[in-house]
Amino acid sequence: MVKLYVNEKEKKGHINPELYGHFSEHLGRCIYEGLYVGEDSEIPNKNGMRTDVVEALRAIEIPVLRWPGGCFADEYHWKDGIGPKEKRKKMVNTHWGGVVEDNSFGTHEFFELCDQLGCKTYVNGNVGSGTVQEMSEWVEYITFDGMSPMADLRKENGREKPWKIDYFGVGNENWGCGGNMTPQYYANEYRRYQTYVRNYHPENLIKKICGGANVADYYWTKEVLKTAFDNVPECAHGLMDGLSLHYYVHPEGWQIKGSATQFDDAAWYKTLSKALYMEELINKHGTIMDEYDPEKTIGMIVDEWGCWFTVEEGTNPGFLYQQNTIRDALAAGLTLNIINKHCDRVKMANLAQMVNVLQSVILTEGPKMILTPTYHVFHMYRYHQDADLVASHLEETEPIGTEEAYMVPQLQESVSVGADGIVNITVNNLSVTDEKELFISFMELKPASVEAFIVTGNMTAHNTFEEPDTVKEEKFEAFEITEQGIKAALPPCSVVLFRVK
Ligand code: AHR
Repeated sequence: MVKLYVNEKEKKGHINPELYGHFSEHLGRCIYEGLYVGEDSEIPNKNGMRTDVVEALRAIEIPVLRWPGGCFADEYHWKDGIGPKEKRKKMVNTHWGGVVEDNSFGTHEFFELCDQLGCKTYVNGNVGSGTVQEMSEWVEYITFDGMSPMADLRKENGREKPWKIDYFGVGNENWGCGGNMTPQYYANEYRRYQTYVRNYHPENLIKKICGGANVADYYWTKEVLKTAFDNVPECAHGLMDGLSLHYYVHPEGWQIKGSATQFDDAAWYKTLSKALYMEELINKHGTIMDEYDPEKTIGMIVDEWGCWFTVEEGTNPGFLYQQNTIRDALAAGLTLNIINKHCDRVKMANLAQMVNVLQSVILTEGPKMILTPTYHVFHMYRYHQDADLVASHLEETEPIGTEEAYMVPQLQESVSVGADGIVNITVNNLSVTDEKELFISFMELKPASVEAFIVTGNMTAHNTFEEPDTVKEEKFEAFEITEQGIKAALPPCSVVLFRVK
């Protein structure tokens, strides 16, 4: 029996809803087919957006959506995606499969989608192949409420009122697909480009995000911050609200990656141990950020994360389409618990990508749609959004696994208290084979009523279009309330939520 101590009175920070954010890229079948089918499609839609997908996404309360990339962002020229659709320029999506991008989903469509989803907006600008003027005019087009060339153009295109940009990314992966820049060069470009990301409206103060490191590239973080803050005049303070971090889990490394559905126990533990590595990345990049920003006013923005496996057989390798199993559910549960626990520094995180690509929450095939195991984890974890993280401590247990280098703890957790006073405890059992007994004790709370939910199955279990409900969120009943707390038996391969009053 493992003990979990919860001090529901000790608040450790606030969990920004944006930690549960998503990412939509012009990549494979994410935008086209997955989210947008066009007004004339036979698939039920509202203004071109798939009704089934929008409804499912609303149910997980997605707080923010990033768009249009990714690597695509630094090749995207926003003016190609406005105006009458038949006149929009067609381009080649060189990064992702070399297919024709007809630009039928552009700025107006993105804001329509966010409106239907009821979420905040995160627009990613083009530094790699775009100009300062282009970026500056995009912001003017979207947010300016007066008479100006760009605001007038927006009105000509049918939108009178400006929209709101909550977050603006100044480039993406500029160390790689976004221009192969050095950190010093990028940081100077960042200083210049962000100057022209203007706040046109006092009620739309745009949060500007600087392009951060890939995985453990601490040199990038150090040098970008050093250059960005070198000799910055007082009046230019506030030039950065966030610094991004990208981290993907590839069980067999970047080249081989590994199958999404056919794997053994060793690959299971390797994947989960790599997902747990997120904690070290946050700590180390966070320590560097502390040097420049001890007050933690700059958010760490983990705007790409997830499992990245080998593409499904028979699909376009450039589309990065992959299935999603119970292993993904665990990887998501672990990552979200880590991010919750670092909510003092991490202010947003975006799973890649929302539909039909990497660790997607939804997969579609023609008019059919399925929810993945990862979807169900986001559904359970939604209670953490906007809640307060509270202190929790799990008694240490023997590490488990099959290889020395990839041992993991059997259980992992995070705990929050919502505005309604309900305590949300999310616990993962990482073992492939073993149930674990857990005893949860509280500082003062005497649990009067407990509701619990679970996502579980064998390690490769997943949903298909033929069998869409193999993995689903279910009520969890294997617990009892005692005088001292809650006693539970967590099955192997499980993600569990307790809601305690
Ligand atoms: O998510 C796929 C790609 O991974 C993104 O476009 C890019 O930013 C990252 O390298």
